[in-house]
Amino acid sequence: MSADGAASPDGAPRAALQAEDIRAGYGAGDIIHGVSVLAASGQVAAIVGPNGSGKSTLLKALAGVLRPSSGRVLAGGRDITGMPPEEIARAGVGYVPQVDDVFGPLTVRENLEMGGYLLSAREVGPRVERVLRVFPRLGQMLTRRAARLSGGERKMLAMGRVLMLEPAVFLLDEPTANLAPKLAAELLSEHVRALAENGAAVLIVEQRARAALGIADHAYVLGGGQVLMAGTPAELSASSGFTESFLGGGRDRSRG
Ligand SMILES: Nc1ncnc2c1ncn2[C@@H]1O[C@H](COP(=O)(O)OP(=O)(O)OP(=O)(O)O)[C@@H](O)[C@H]1O
Ligand SMILES: [Mg+2]
Repeated sequence: MSADGAASPDGAPRAALQAEDIRAGYGAGDIIHGVSVLAASGQVAAIVGPNGSGKSTLLKALAGVLRPSSGRVLAGGRDITGMPPEEIARAGVGYVPQVDDVFGPLTVRENLEMGGYLLSAREVGPRVERVLRVFPRLGQMLTRRAARLSGGERKMLAMGRVLMLEPAVFLLDEPTANLAPKLAAELLSEHVRALAENGAAVLIVEQRARAALGIADHAYVLGGGQVLMAGTPAELSASSGFTESFLGGGRDRSRG
């Protein structure tokens, strides 16, 4: 991992990615209205919120797919606001979008190799091997087209593709969407959590609030393009408003 340790000299978690007062949208007015979030090295920060609350829009603004209309994004202390996606990838920020996360007509190996597009030719092979140690299942299907993978395998490939550049920050947009609950829990606890254990900062969008809190160090609740609540999983679970909206209504079950 290119993240260089989980704590700053004073012992506080190091902010690998910091977004300050971000506003962003699709041209016809802002959809994100002044959102600040922080992802620390070695930690998982979760963003939960209902459909249409702006979770994906926020991640797109952080990844450079959308240009924020105001606010600042810092990666490792460096200002990356408004940079194109390739520059942001170069700055150590990896992004797995909610949809179109792999290239269907290409094989698993070709998808991984494409993920290494910023590497030199001789770095690619060893890096593929390293990614396969993290996702051994992919090693058994290197010549299969991505379009033929199961939902879970596809999500592993999407994460593996981003892992090719060993980013210090992972932006993951609903990696468990359309997965059965057991598979979703496995992906979160085994793979997403492992990225943080290896030193990276993970900012993950999840509709499965309970599952997300289970692996998160910190969580944000987004609603109407704003942060409505933020805190540790314990703090949020202790808030009756949060529990009623996100843990009691069967959302997790209804998606499984
Ligand atoms: N490409 C686009 N052009 C215009 N409006 C968009 C576009 N993508 C999303 N929106 C709008 O922005 C708002 C926020 O959408 P966004 O995709 O960020 O929500 P979300 O929280 O990720 O939802 P979900 O949980 O369904 O993925 C919605 O009202 C949506 O209709
Ligand atoms: Mg979304």
